[in-house]
Amino acid sequence: MIRRETRLSIIKSAAKIPAMTTIDELKERIGSISEAMGKDAESLTTPEALEAFRIEYLGRKGKIATLFKTLGTLPQEDRAAAGKLLNELKARANELYTAREESLKEASLGERLAKERVDLTLPGVYHPLGHLHLLTRVQREIEDIFLRMGFDIASGPEIETEYYAFEALNIPANHPARDEWDTFYIDDTRLLRPHTSPVQIRVMKETTPPVRVICPGRCYRRDTQDATHSPVFHQVELLWVEEGLSLANLKYVIEYFVHEFFGEGYEMRMSGDFFPFTEPSVQVHMRAPGASEWLEIMGAGMVDPAVLTEVGYDPEKVTGFAFGLGVERMAMLRYKIDDIRVFLQNDLRFITQF
Ligand code: DAH
Repeated sequence: MIRRETRLSIIKSAAKIPAMTTIDELKERIGSISEAMGKDAESLTTPEALEAFRIEYLGRKGKIATLFKTLGTLPQEDRAAAGKLLNELKARANELYTAREESLKEASLGERLAKERVDLTLPGVYHPLGHLHLLTRVQREIEDIFLRMGFDIASGPEIETEYYAFEALNIPANHPARDEWDTFYIDDTRLLRPHTSPVQIRVMKETTPPVRVICPGRCYRRDTQDATHSPVFHQVELLWVEEGLSLANLKYVIEYFVHEFFGEGYEMRMSGDFFPFTEPSVQVHMRAPGASEWLEIMGAGMVDPAVLTEVGYDPEKVTGFAFGLGVERMAMLRYKIDDIRVFLQNDLRFITQF
């Protein structure tokens, strides 16, 4: 038994099907739908309109589907021909739809391309590339050479106490040698370190021999500025303490280092000097190929027994040597720079050369 509502709904949907009795009538309707469809398709300029078109003609309840439902009302002998006509109509609707869909896609792509267009003829944006300052590079290069030789790197404070800067280095308060280093005081007992030698003391107090370190860093002195002196400059301190070291070992280390850093063609000269913290003491001068001037690059010597004793080492058992090397001067020799002041002037014409 069919329930009442169901029967009603069948009746309702049947009522929507236009009664169609002849194939001529069908042809007429196909003709007018086809015409309307062609016109509608021309005005499809948005995705929304395109979707509305699809629903109206190709949808499940669209005009073409509705016509298909009338097939059953046609005389049996006309149905095949009518079906064929309807299929053609549907194919045409599909064609119109996809053609419009394609051209809409193209249009929106064209729009996007126009919007996002990159003008390759515009001048580029210039991003200057930074690089390390020449002094930093030279310092790192010096560090690399000593790291390869088995040295460690140590550092100490730039604000130093009188004890580390002088007393422990065998420079008592009344010693005339203090004059040279007694420079920028912060208060009664602290000063900007005039050399990196205090780091030797700091390292030795914390280690037992053998000790093999370099200590790079910035130093300050009351020097009057000239082509080879600056109140701010950099040193690399070296210290090697072990049993059985002699001046010959020091000489070898310096020669090896100089050769690694400069290569061939540079001359080196060692001569006697005086430092309260070394005995004997030497100074080392270098001359660039073709240059007439010698430039002092370091003070060096065998660590004074008084210094070793001060840090608790036994000078009867261990000996050591040390040097203090001027970093700016190494760079000046290598790159033929004749004025130390250029390192701190921040003149890009100088800085960007390296
Ligand atoms: N500290 C000394 C200076 O700045 C240089 C120096 C000399 C360092 C002899 C040393 C050394 O380690 O052994 O003038």
